[in-house]
Amino acid sequence: MTKKIDIQRLTRALKRAGAASLCAAAALGTTPLAAHAAAPHNANDAALIARGEYLARAGDCIACHSANAGKPFAGGLKFDTPIGAIYSTNITPERGTGIGAWNFAQFDRAVRAGVKPNGDTLYPAMPYPSYARLSEDDMHALYAYFSQGVAPVKQANRPVDIVWPLSMRWPLGIWRHLFAPEPVSFDAKRYADPVIARGAYLVQGLGHCGACHTPRAATMQERALSDLDGSAFLAGGATIDGWTPSSLRGNPRTGIGAWSEAHLVQFLKTGRTQHSAAFGGMTDVVQHSMQHMNDADLTTMARYLKTLPSTDPKEAPYVYDDTAAHALRSGDATAPGAAVYRDNCTACHRSDGHGYNRVFPALSGNPVVQGKDATSLIHVLLTGSTLEGTKTAPSSFTMPAFGWRLNDQEVADVTNFVRNSWGNTGSTVSSTDVARVRKTVTVHTPEMPRGAALSH
Ligand code: HEC
Ligand code: HEC
Ligand code: HEC
Repeated sequence: MTKKIDIQRLTRALKRAGAASLCAAAALGTTPLAAHAAAPHNANDAALIARGEYLARAGDCIACHSANAGKPFAGGLKFDTPIGAIYSTNITPERGTGIGAWNFAQFDRAVRAGVKPNGDTLYPAMPYPSYARLSEDDMHALYAYFSQGVAPVKQANRPVDIVWPLSMRWPLGIWRHLFAPEPVSFDAKRYADPVIARGAYLVQGLGHCGACHTPRAATMQERALSDLDGSAFLAGGATIDGWTPSSLRGNPRTGIGAWSEAHLVQFLKTGRTQHSAAFGGMTDVVQHSMQHMNDADLTTMARYLKTLPSTDPKEAPYVYDDTAAHALRSGDATAPGAAVYRDNCTACHRSDGHGYNRVFPALSGNPVVQGKDATSLIHVLLTGSTLEGTKTAPSSFTMPAFGWRLNDQEVADVTNFVRNSWGNTGSTVSSTDVARVRKTVTVHTPEMPRGAALSH
C-alpha cells in the first residue's frame, strides 16, 4: 500500500507565500510547545500503558507507521507525492533508529505540532493538524505506550526520495504556520452534551476522519478541522489511492442522513451493515482502528456524526423504486448495463439491489453508489475487493475482479446501471472515465490451473 498526496499544488502555493513568513515559521519552530519536560505520571503504570495502546488504536498509528509485511511501528510505509516519495518513520522505543531517546515534550511536539526535535517540520501526511487537539492526559498515555509498551525495532528511517531544492523542509514550516492549528486541548464545553463532546473529540482528533473525508483547499489544508469551521467538515474528500471517501454529513442520499446511530456503530465495528460494506481506504480504518474501540466510544462517535447537518437542503431523500427489479425478473435486460448486471452481479447483489444483509452490500440506497465521484465504484468493479472479518464479525466475503473480462464500455454501462436503478440517482460515467481509472489500478487475471508449473 502506498498513499498519494498532491503536494505539487502545495509547493506552488508555498513558493507564492514567499520567504517573508520564513522568519516567523523558524521562530515558531524553536518555541517549546509545553513547559513540562517530564511526565507527571508514574511511568510504570501498566494501566496508563494500556490506555495508551487503546488511544494508539483510535489514532491508527500502526496503519501508517508499519510497512507492508514490516514490523509494527517500525515505519517505512511509502507515501507517493508528485515530487517524490516520503516514508513514515520508526516510532518504536529503539534508541538509535526509533524515538527511544525522545522525552515527553519532544514526542508531544511531534505528534501535536508536527515539529521534530531538530526543529524540522513533518509532512502533513502525519495528521498532526487533527492530533493538535489531543488532551495532555492522552498524550501522556500515548507516550507511556510508545516508550514502554511497544517492542523496540532497530530499523533506520528511509530518507525522502525528493530532489533538492523541493526536499527542503522550511516550506513545510511555512505551511504549518499558516494552516496547522496551535495545539490546544479540546474544549468539551463547546458541546452541550458530554457524549457528543467525547464523540467530537475522537472524530476530529485521534480518529482524524477529516484527513480523508474532508475536502482540501488548493494549498492542501483540510477546509475545516471541525464542525465549528463550517459545512465542509467531513463533506467528502478527494480520491486517495483510487478510493473516494464519501460524505459523513446528514445528506439524505449521498451522506449518512438515512443511517441510524446503531448502523454507524455497526459499520465502524464490523465494516458491514444492511446499507453498505467498508472497502478501499476504509477497510484499514475498520481493521486496525475502529473494531478495537469499545461500544461506548463508538456510540459517542456515531452520535456526534449524526449532529452534522446536510450540506444540501434540496437533496431529496432516497425512495426505493422497483422498476429495475421487475424488468430484470421478467427477463427484460434491454436497459444499458442491465444485461451485464444480470450476468455478473445478481448472484450476490440480487435483482432488487438489496444484496444480503451484512454479507453482500445493498447497492440500492447506498450513499457510496450515488456519490458525486464514481472513481471508487469503477475501481471496485475492476479489481474486486474483500470485506475482511473483524473480531465480532469474523466471516470474510469477496467480490471478484471484473476488470479482466469486462471492457471499459461494459464497466461504464454497469456503473451507470447501479447508479440509476432502484431509486438511486447518480451522474453517468463514460468508457473514457473507466479507462482513466484502469490506468491507475492493478487488475489481476485469475490464476489458471497450474498444469506444467507444478514441476517446480
Ligand atoms: C496517515 C498516516 C499517519 C498516521 C495515522 C500517523 N502518522 Fe506519524 N507520521 C506519518 C508520516 C508520513 C511521518 C513522517 C513525516 C515526515 O517525514 O515528515 C510521521 C512522523 C511521525 C513522528 C515523527 C518521527 C520522527 O522520527 O521524526 C512521530 C513521533 C509520529 N509520527 C507519531 C505518530 C503517532 C503517535 C501516531 C498515532 C497517534 C501517528 N504518528 C499516526 C504518518 C502518519
Ligand atoms: C484513509 C482514509 C480514510 C479515513 C482516515 C477514514 N475513512 Fe471513512 N471511508 C473512506 C473511504 C475511501 C470510504 C468509501 C468506501 C466505503 O464506503 O467503505 C469511507 C467510508 C466511510 C463510511 C461509509 C459511508 C457510506 O456512505 O457508505 C463511514 C461511516 C466512514 N467512512 C466513517 C469514518 C470515520 C468515523 C472515520 C474516522 C474514525 C473515517 N471514516 C476515517 C476512507 C477513510
Ligand atoms: C461473489 C459475490 C459478488 C459478486 C458476483 C459481485 N459483488 Fe459487488 N460486492 C461483493 C462484496 C462481498 C462486496 C463488499 C466488498 C468489500 O467490502 O470490500 C461488494 C461490494 C460492491 C460495491 C461497493 C458497495 C459497498 O458499499 O461496499 C459495489 C458498487 C459492487 N459491489 C458492485 C458490483 C457489481 C456492479 C457487480 C457485477 C459486475 C458485483 N458487485 C458483483 C460481492 C459481489
